[in-house]
Amino acid sequence: MIPYAPEALTDYTNPVEKQKLLQALDVVRAKLGREYPALIHGRPYETDQRISSVNPARKGEIVGLVTKANLVLAERAVAAAYAQFPSWSRVKPETRADYLFKSAALMRRSKHEFSAWIMLESGKTCAEADADTAEAIDFMEYYARQMLELTGRGAAHLVRVPGERNQLVYLPLGVGIIIPPWNFPLAILVGMTTAAIVAGNTVVVKPSSQTPVIAHRFMELLREVGVPDGVVQFLPGSGGEIGDYLVAHKHTRFVSFTGSRDVGVHLHALSARVEKGQLWLKRFVGELGGKDAIIVDEEADLSAAAAGIVASAFGYAGQKCSACSRAIVHQAVYPEVLERCRELTERLKQGDPLDLSTDLGPVIDSTAYAKILSYIRQGQQEGRLVTGGTYDDSAGFFIAPTIYADLASDTRLMQEEIFGPVLAMAQAATMEEAIAIANQSDYGLTGAIYTNNRAWIERAREDFHVGNLYINRKCTGATVGVHPFGGFNMSGTDSKAGGPDYLLLFTQPKLISERL
Ligand code: NAD
Ligand code: ALA
Repeated sequence: MIPYAPEALTDYTNPVEKQKLLQALDVVRAKLGREYPALIHGRPYETDQRISSVNPARKGEIVGLVTKANLVLAERAVAAAYAQFPSWSRVKPETRADYLFKSAALMRRSKHEFSAWIMLESGKTCAEADADTAEAIDFMEYYARQMLELTGRGAAHLVRVPGERNQLVYLPLGVGIIIPPWNFPLAILVGMTTAAIVAGNTVVVKPSSQTPVIAHRFMELLREVGVPDGVVQFLPGSGGEIGDYLVAHKHTRFVSFTGSRDVGVHLHALSARVEKGQLWLKRFVGELGGKDAIIVDEEADLSAAAAGIVASAFGYAGQKCSACSRAIVHQAVYPEVLERCRELTERLKQGDPLDLSTDLGPVIDSTAYAKILSYIRQGQQEGRLVTGGTYDDSAGFFIAPTIYADLASDTRLMQEEIFGPVLAMAQAATMEEAIAIANQSDYGLTGAIYTNNRAWIERAREDFHVGNLYINRKCTGATVGVHPFGGFNMSGTDSKAGGPDYLLLFTQPKLISERL
């Protein structure tokens, strides 16, 4: 088998690739406003309520209208997944892996179309959308190979003793509830769903209400490659209503959630409850928020550091769990790093992602817009505005990339996840203090340090307490199979998506020992 290698990103400065994307955008735009049903055991279901998915760059543009499922459909979806589990769990791992390989190949062939949907539904620029599609392909290529590796792992890792044949087999768990966020509307949805099913589980996917159309497009792809009905149910709807019901259901065996801290903590508690008739302790895999920091030493390449801070802070308008929302800079170089960050930030072009030269699009919706503006107002009391602070929601939800400086480490801008284009900068008297400030957080997802001093690199390895630590590079952009991803503390269960241990979370090992 060809070894796994991450998907190459598309170069849209190449006129041929650019043309292909423009054509895909035309095709997708012609499909805007269509209606999409829930899918249970391959059958479409509708209710009299719809979720309206809107292009965040053009508030008047409806991307699609998706059925809002109710509790009756939620019950039916769990029942369908439960009924399908006995047969799907017995399908050979090689066959299950094949479905992922085929899905990856098909998505690769349609990658511009997938990226076009992402641009229109989530407001990503062409580069960010392309990276999202590439990551989705990577997850499928990687998890398919991981399943094959896991199948052979059991026997190889056991100590052999005379007179016995011992086997360790990795069995699937059962029905899983997959609850992804909107900010990687394809990659995270695909990764969470395909990891669970390749391991032999059946699932109910409750997509984010901000990006259900791209999720539905992926369901169509699974159908095209022939994934049997009942393996994946598609159930758009309110998190509070059907999400809670699905998580609490006695036939739910595991919950795979990626999203905010508050919802994650709530679902963690809910999944710990044992319902009447429930036969197992549910497994909860939860990847939550971040308040990620980049530290800059006085002995660092300041140009690389500023570029890394700005790319990590404002890529996808700061709407990444991995985004740099705190920059902590040694006081000796603080004014210079601040000035470089301001310059680079002011060069960013904000606008509608349909203009392919856009660096920064809108934020996802009116709720996010209002929340981020409240932090911009808070920043006026807590720090010094260096750039940005302006906003305009007349066409879409646009907030200028904003930097506040001179923040104390305990301020709200330095402590709370903003999830928008707002960067808080602070200075530290020493590198020791910089690491202490970085660690002064409830979260612990990503972090980066820029320094040419080997001692500080080694110190950061030991003491910078994050799940993904990057040295002399930005803190966003983990690649599947290369940088397994997950965080410490309130950033979640550190599942390390895209890593060699991830599939274990969706299996239960069984030891079989036969006396010969
Ligand atoms: P969110 O928590 O609002 O929603 C996540 C998902 O949960 C959505 O599908 C939503 O519909 C659903 N949901 C909401 N309330 C629910 C409930 N009561 N019961 C069941 N489901 C419910 O998060 P979001 O706004 O979609 O995503 C942004 C958040 O996700 C940020 O905090 C970000 O840091 C985090 N995130 C984390 C990672 C990671 O790997 N750690 C990756 C991406 C995003
Ligand atoms: N995996 C994404 C990143 O690393 C969130 O930026």
